[in-house]
Parts: sequence; structure tokens; C-alpha cells
Amino acid sequence: MNDTSRIEKELVSYLPQENEYIKTLVDSMRYSLTAGGKRVRPMLAIEFSKLCGGNEEAVMPFACALEMIHTYSLIHDDLPCMDNDDLRRGKPTNHKVFGEAAALLGGSGLLTLAFETVLSEKAVKLNGYEKCVKAGRLLSECAGVNGMLGGQIIDLESENKQVPVEHLRVMDDKKTGALIKAACILGCISAGADEEKIKAAEIYAENIGIAFQIVDDMLDVISDTQTLGKPIGSDKENNKSTYVSLLGIDECRRISAELTDKAVNSLSAFDGDTSVLSDFAIYLRDRTK
Ligand code: IPE
Ligand code: IPE
Ligand code: MG
Ligand code: MG
Ligand code: MG
Repeated sequence: MNDTSRIEKELVSYLPQENEYIKTLVDSMRYSLTAGGKRVRPMLAIEFSKLCGGNEEAVMPFACALEMIHTYSLIHDDLPCMDNDDLRRGKPTNHKVFGEAAALLGGSGLLTLAFETVLSEKAVKLNGYEKCVKAGRLLSECAGVNGMLGGQIIDLESENKQVPVEHLRVMDDKKTGALIKAACILGCISAGADEEKIKAAEIYAENIGIAFQIVDDMLDVISDTQTLGKPIGSDKENNKSTYVSLLGIDECRRISAELTDKAVNSLSAFDGDTSVLSDFAIYLRDRTK
């Protein structure tokens, strides 16, 4: 499960051919896309596809598109007008290397490349038009205003405020949960899973999605920059509203454990071997980076 080498190889294969005119843009995209990262979203797509009897080659373009959108969201998230961070995946953030304009364009380049990938000839040949259209629609919904982008505006507008915990739930569900949900469902779509399985995947995703952001917020306080590969204390510096700022570390630990249990239990709806996905939920709960 933790071998990401196939994903790494496939990801770079989708980068546009460089030429002298667009070199900076492609370099900016490649820099962040190949900087590492846990590759959580592609792995979820691949594992759900496997569980539903799908084919790894077919889900791969969907898996890569998810990572492109995620990486774009990180480039923009780090910009001075957003979280203003200098380190990402153990390297200087995109705008620190390429400047703000190229970071903005490189991020947007990855966003559009994601849809090019989902609708590519290769993806269509392996999955058929219908699955690619479904995947593209779901991906745009989850990355868009009612998904990740919506969550990001709630996050920014919750700075310097004491917001109710229900508000954080909505924020995290959108800013982080939505793309994780897309990942799990895209795996099911590629495999041609039925509605019942998609529903179960959705419940798993909703629970690990919130848990994932809670752990991210905890690590911002309890980890160290070297391990995390991004600056700790960023949330405090920006006066962010998080589960940690509202409820404290111990309560966060309890809630993330509870959500992880719910995710693991939701896997009983599947007939096959769900151990990889239940172990994955636990790994995400206990991760240190
Ligand atoms: C960080 O995501 C941003 C959030 C949505 C919490 P990841 O923790 O998956 O970051 P990488 O991809 O491993 O760098
Ligand atoms: C970001 O949440 C979620 C995204 C959609 C990128 P954070 O701002 O907490 O992510 P990190 O901690 O910078 O990775
Ligand atoms: Mg942020
Ligand atoms: Mg951030
Ligand atoms: Mg964070």
C-alpha cells in the first residue's frame, strides 16, 4: 500500500511537453508534483477500485488527476494571500522558487491538466466515455465551490474568530473531505461498482476525511517541521479556527479515533478483503506527517 512508485511514474507522464515558451510554467508544475507527498488520494482510488474488482491501469488516470488537483490546492494554499507558508513537502514552497505569478499559473495548470487527464484518450480507452464523464463531473464538484474551494473560503473567513464546532465540520468536510470522497468514489466508478458500494465508500470517505484534517491540525501543533515537511505553528500564526484551537489535543485524538472506527466499520458492506483500507484508515489516524 505504501509503494507509490507506480503513481510517481504515471504522474510525470501526464506533464505537458516542455518548450522554450512555456518552460517556467511546466517547471513550476513539475516542481510541486514531484516533490513527494503521501499520495493518499491516488492510493484510495486504487484501493477502492481493487476492492470493487477494477483494473489498476484503468483507475490510474483518475488517481493521477486527484493528485494533480490536490497539489494545485497546496500551491495556492501556501501563497502569501492564503496561508503564507514557505515550506511544503520538505522543500521551499512553489512561490518561493518561481514567484507568485508562476505559482498561481502552475497551480492552475495542474487543475486543468487533471481534467485533461480524466478525459484523455487513454482514460477513455481504459474506462469508456460514460465512466470518464462521471469521473470528471464528480471531480469538478468536489474540487469546486461546493467542495474544496468552498472549504478554503470558510477557512479564510474563520481566521481571527471563535466559530462553533459545527462550522468546522462543514469547513473540513469541504476543504479536505470532498477530494478524499472523490478519490474513494472514483475508484468505485472505474471498477463499475453499484450504488450500494458507492454509498459505503462515501461513508468511509466522510469519516476519514474529517479525521484527516483533524490530524493535520494536531500535527501543526505537536509535530516538528523536519518530520512534517511544512512549517509547524502555521495555524496559530494565522489565527485559524481548527478543532485543536477549539477543543484541544486530547479531544481531537478522541474524535479522530471515533471517526476512524466508523470508517473501518463502514467497510463491512464490501465482500472482498478490506484489510488494506481498514489499515489505511488507522495509518492516517496515527501518522506523524
Ligand atoms: C495536506 O494534505 C493538506 C490537507 C488537505 C490537510 P496531505 O497531508 O495529503 O499532504 P501531502 O500530499 O502528503 O503533502
Ligand atoms: C488545506 O488545509 C486544505 C487544502 C485544501 C489545501 P491546511 O491549510 O491546513 O493544509 P496544510 O496544513 O497547509 O497542508
Ligand atoms: Mg489552509
Ligand atoms: Mg495551509
Ligand atoms: Mg494544516
